[in-house]
Amino acid sequence: MSTQYEIDFAASATLDGSLAVMLQLAGQDAPAGLADADPENVSARAAKIAKFTAKSMSTLDLIAPHGSKADRLVVLGLGKLDALTAHDWLRAGGAAAAGFKAATRVVVYLDAPGLQVEPALAADFALGLMLRAYSFDAYKTKKKDDEDKPPKKVAVTIVTRAHAGAKKALAEAEAVAGGVVLARDLVNLPPNVLGPVEFADRAKALEKLGVQVEILTEKEMGELKMGALLGVAQGSVRPPRLAVMQWKGGKPKEPPVAFIGKGVVFDSGGISIKPGAGMEDMKGDMGGAAAVTGLMHTLAARKAKVNVVGIIGLVENMPDGNAQRPGDIVTSMSGQTIEIINTDAEGRLVLGDALWYCNDRFKPRFMINLATLTGAILVALGNQAAGLFSNDDELATRLSAAGEATGEKLWRMPLGKEYDKMIDSKFADMKNTGGRHAGAITAAQFLKRFVGDTHWAHLDVAGTAMNSPSTEISQSWASGYGVRLLDRLVSDHYEG
Ligand code: BES
Ligand code: MN
Ligand code: ZN
Repeated sequence: MSTQYEIDFAASATLDGSLAVMLQLAGQDAPAGLADADPENVSARAAKIAKFTAKSMSTLDLIAPHGSKADRLVVLGLGKLDALTAHDWLRAGGAAAAGFKAATRVVVYLDAPGLQVEPALAADFALGLMLRAYSFDAYKTKKKDDEDKPPKKVAVTIVTRAHAGAKKALAEAEAVAGGVVLARDLVNLPPNVLGPVEFADRAKALEKLGVQVEILTEKEMGELKMGALLGVAQGSVRPPRLAVMQWKGGKPKEPPVAFIGKGVVFDSGGISIKPGAGMEDMKGDMGGAAAVTGLMHTLAARKAKVNVVGIIGLVENMPDGNAQRPGDIVTSMSGQTIEIINTDAEGRLVLGDALWYCNDRFKPRFMINLATLTGAILVALGNQAAGLFSNDDELATRLSAAGEATGEKLWRMPLGKEYDKMIDSKFADMKNTGGRHAGAITAAQFLKRFVGDTHWAHLDVAGTAMNSPSTEISQSWASGYGVRLLDRLVSDHYEG
């Protein structure tokens, strides 16, 4: 169970028996809240002894500080003022939460000397707390000793001059946290538990937030002639689904913005089966669909003033007797034919039909798809940034800026005729792989053949959605990448 933080913003707080967090910039000799939490300034002596210099995200931990009403003091360093970014407030929240230990009452002094924290950044700090609290342990039946177990509930009072504005912004932070947690859960869940039907049920559950959800069955996709998506699904005993989620928060006639996700609940590779080592990670091959579902949650929960469509293609890629073969030629909904060279290049087949369907039915302002599409993007960018491919410079620039603001980074990759040629087929309109070189780019070129002239971006999140490194705001295998990024893109440019 993840810890629940009951967060409140206030002008002051009582400290008795609490853990107090004080923030400090590098180069300042006093932390925030010094007079209240540490009247005898024992933290200064401790800092000297421990050579604590308030480096960014470093902490100094004092137990039973003399003269203080708090049971414990944590000084959290913010680094130098001129190097402090908006994203650092989120990280600071996470770093603070890491120091809460067994405390059930926490007071955080947010306004470091020489610093007035904006309400939005104070809410980001709270979001950092909430994201750090996440842990996926539903399948751990042997509970740890009581002392090691984090408390179920923690009351956190954040003391800041911006308390009134921060209180208002907190509801939005909660909506974002809810979306990220949903995306993380979906990716972390084992593939026997979360098949296409079960994933579709989770999408359907967003109706309680006012999202309209349609679930297309195999038969309905057959009638739509989604031969590319269905070809992937045919080797699994579990039937595919296409979930279409709509949030109508904008003007009635306004065309929607659209997000499309790859939802391969498990990718064995199919007949072109993957090697055994690390195959268990392929339970996360629905990270794109999870991000789209989490994003729909967030936008609906904060009642975003925009019309949004979220479409996720849900399939399992398995190698049974009915599985598709290398050499097969399938016809996509667009009418374009595809020669299957490698059944492990399945994500693009799912997305090709999902993108075409989305464009055809909704005529959206733009389409952004997210997919754990290629190992090649991991080779290029590692876990540090997702690959960004786009046919529209303005959309790409806006996405990159949202990436910088949220810390969910993107790195733009090229598209071009020369790469497109690499997926021409001898027997069909195209083939589903372009050979060993430029693997992430040829995959993107494949998708581009299904978007027409619509503004479009493809985010290859194979390196960022799963197997994620631990950070201040995530200790989880599944990061929930994409929810904060795209929520930010929408709120910065497409609302109201
Ligand atoms: N789901 C994989 C890509 C992937 C790899 C995601 C590692 C997360 C971590 C995708 O379906 C795949 O298998 N891609 C192949 C394409 C190749 C056969 C052209 C790849 O990248 O090797
Ligand atoms: Mn694959
Ligand atoms: Zn895959």
